[in-house]
Amino acid sequence: MNQTRYPELAGKRVWITGSSSGIGAGMAKILAQQGCKLVLHYCRNETGVQQTLQTVAELGAEVEVVWGDFADYASLENVFHQAWSAFDGLDVLINNAGIVTKSTALNDNTGAAFNRTIAINLQAPYRLSTAFAKACIDAKQPGVIINNSSIHGQQTCEWFSAYAASKAGLDAMMKVMAVEWGPKGIRVNSLAPGVVPVERTAKILAEPKMAATWTKTMPLQRFGHVDDMGWATAFLISDSAAWMTGSVLTVDGGLIARGGYPARE
Ligand SMILES: NC(=O)c1ccc[n+]([C@@H]2O[C@H](COP(=O)([O-])OP(=O)(O)OC[C@H]3O[C@@H](n4cnc5c(N)ncnc54)[C@H](OP(=O)(O)O)[C@@H]3O)[C@@H](O)[C@H]2O)c1
Repeated sequence: MNQTRYPELAGKRVWITGSSSGIGAGMAKILAQQGCKLVLHYCRNETGVQQTLQTVAELGAEVEVVWGDFADYASLENVFHQAWSAFDGLDVLINNAGIVTKSTALNDNTGAAFNRTIAINLQAPYRLSTAFAKACIDAKQPGVIINNSSIHGQQTCEWFSAYAASKAGLDAMMKVMAVEWGPKGIRVNSLAPGVVPVERTAKILAEPKMAATWTKTMPLQRFGHVDDMGWATAFLISDSAAWMTGSVLTVDGGLIARGGYPARE
């Protein structure tokens, strides 16, 4: 079923980094339904990005694909220009690509995992956002940036020193960019998803004991769906969020609102 809830999104040129699977692919589907023109992106998963392409093309979207490894900082300028050129400019940049690094600090004493996480999750969005803002300013047009952050940017737990640092950094950077670029007509916000099963995690989260543990902790008693993230993203782009910048939109079924308290019957 084709669902249009934000008709003003029709024709918007949107680059979604990391749209070869998971939340990025979910965002692509919802934004295709709103009539956006999409630039997809992948790094390793060419099959996945072709699936996303097929899905959005069947929904009638105009679509292009770019490749880039965001661990390679020097290449980001070139990747950005490919994405910007696909539809002769962009209206929206979604910094979605990211890696979820689970390692204890003691297991990463060379800092290799930490550095890679910061490179992909924080330095790449920094570089792409600045390139996007500069291009919008040069073109004398407004722009919207959405960072796919995480609830780990706000509250976290063991194993996530690299990941949480990258996402808290992303949220802090987002606020500074919102302040600096608001007067230029560029809105910058973060989306902070809770637990959303994707190809990478679906099997383990579906395991009954694991699923019961999680759903008990979430006031809305279910995992998130990639469509939930797609709709939140569409809202952040839409005119309904026209006065919203510098904010973190948490979409987590209430998980971090209840904190770490044990569930009471
Ligand atoms: N799923 C959740 O529960 C959840 C919760 C909070 C936040 N998030 C955030 O959501 C975003 C998407 O994650 P996901 O859960 O949807 O996982 P995913 O399916 O693994 O998607 C990650 C995406 O990032 C891309 N990527 C990975 N390494 C890259 C690199 N070196 N260069 C460029 N792109 C790279 C992947 O591309 P290839 O596979 O093509 O390499 C893929 O498209 C991440 O920023 C993650 O932190 C997810």
